[in-house]
Amino acid sequence: MEKMVIEGGYPLNGKVKVNGAKNAALPIMAACLLINGTTKLRGIPELTDVKTLCKILNELGVDTKKCEDGSLDITVKDERNITAPYDLVRTMRASICVLGPLLGKRGMAKVSIPGGCSIGSRPIDIHIKGIESLGAEVVMEDGYVIATGKMKGSEIYLGGPYGSTVLGTCNIIMAAVLAEGRTIIENAACEPEVQDLAHFLNKAGANIAGIGESNLIVDGVDRLNGIEYEIIPDRIEAGTIMIAGAITGGNIVLENDASCYLASVIDKLREAGVGIKITDADKNTPGHVQSSECFVKRDGNIKPVNITTLPYPGMPTDMQAQFSALLSIANGTSIITERVFPHRFMHVAELNRMGANIMNEDAIAIIKGVPKLSGTTVMASDLRASASLIIAGLAAKGITEIRRLYHIDRGYERLEDRLKNLGAKIWREKE
Ligand code: EPZ
Repeated sequence: MEKMVIEGGYPLNGKVKVNGAKNAALPIMAACLLINGTTKLRGIPELTDVKTLCKILNELGVDTKKCEDGSLDITVKDERNITAPYDLVRTMRASICVLGPLLGKRGMAKVSIPGGCSIGSRPIDIHIKGIESLGAEVVMEDGYVIATGKMKGSEIYLGGPYGSTVLGTCNIIMAAVLAEGRTIIENAACEPEVQDLAHFLNKAGANIAGIGESNLIVDGVDRLNGIEYEIIPDRIEAGTIMIAGAITGGNIVLENDASCYLASVIDKLREAGVGIKITDADKNTPGHVQSSECFVKRDGNIKPVNITTLPYPGMPTDMQAQFSALLSIANGTSIITERVFPHRFMHVAELNRMGANIMNEDAIAIIKGVPKLSGTTVMASDLRASASLIIAGLAAKGITEIRRLYHIDRGYERLEDRLKNLGAKIWREKE
């Protein structure tokens, strides 16, 4: 086992390139189950989650080949196996995103029900309701979702207690693209990663209209053909690095950044006193990756701000832990309200061990800013909580050691190398 070691107090300065988006890569890789021929994907990050999904696709008769130039070639070779096994699915909840394409292309899917995780129970009731509307017979047996049926277009409302569902929307889109007739998806998630999936499928021959809006229209087509596609940059990685720059008082430039998808994050950082300048004013068109630069310069103290996480384009829940770290040293009291995953506060206890003063009750965290955090040994609990502990360690006095590093490797590619290149004193050691 490894631990991350950070000596805090060094401002981050310099340029860093943002990787491709994990949460676009996963559904787009799964969508290749729908495609005839080979698809070449560019910008796929080197992550544990990507490797896990490759193993699941291999189990499903799909060949995944990493090419010299870093691209990933995906080809369906054998459609007989339709089971995504427990021992792989249990390591990554997002594996549920093979349910829709398996059903849409092979008429059958047997996917292990993903367990909960540290950010909360991860139900899939809306996914099930959606595929049943498309004509699937669904049985839950021995911990598996078993769905069979030929997909037929229908009208579906994807509504849950916390708004829509990102992977649920992806699953329904992927089950509908080869269905007979028209599917209308109401209250679809509009996250950039869902939009990227829809752009990818349209380029492969699908017929999806209303991308980026909450009502999608999917007209079924007969087949999808292999294409070459570059996924969008990772807005959560970009936001995480922005906050790392802000908390250390440095000045960093993000290339291939995702600022066009980060309006809510940039707005809050500016309210907190962080200077942010977008050099390339042209809005990126989601689905077509352009390079633009985002400067993050911090001039004074961090001001307290109130944050409520919401579905896109609201404040991403995946940025909540990182903001909690930043606001723990603001000069005042901030309030964070978690409206997507109400129990997503595992990072609070660990930040408090570093000297933060955060009170969490149900879906609310009250953060009383302190002058300085102190390094100590802390435990990562999930992907974004690990990022918040790294951010806190970069600013803390002394040495911070972060255990259970596998969480960070699931969603950030060599994050410590890139922070080191910006001037951070950060390294891995054997535990
Ligand atoms: C995606 O998860 C992301 N993961 C998550 O990022 C992200 O936090 C989440 O969307 C919200 O933006 C990937 O894209 C791989 P949801 P997903 O279904 O799709 C409830 C990260 O750190 N719900 O949109 O699983 C659910 O409990 C990860 O990169 C139901 O009630 O999230 C939650 O409260 C963490 N029934 C809310 O909806 C359902 O059938 C939003 O969940 C499905 C969801």
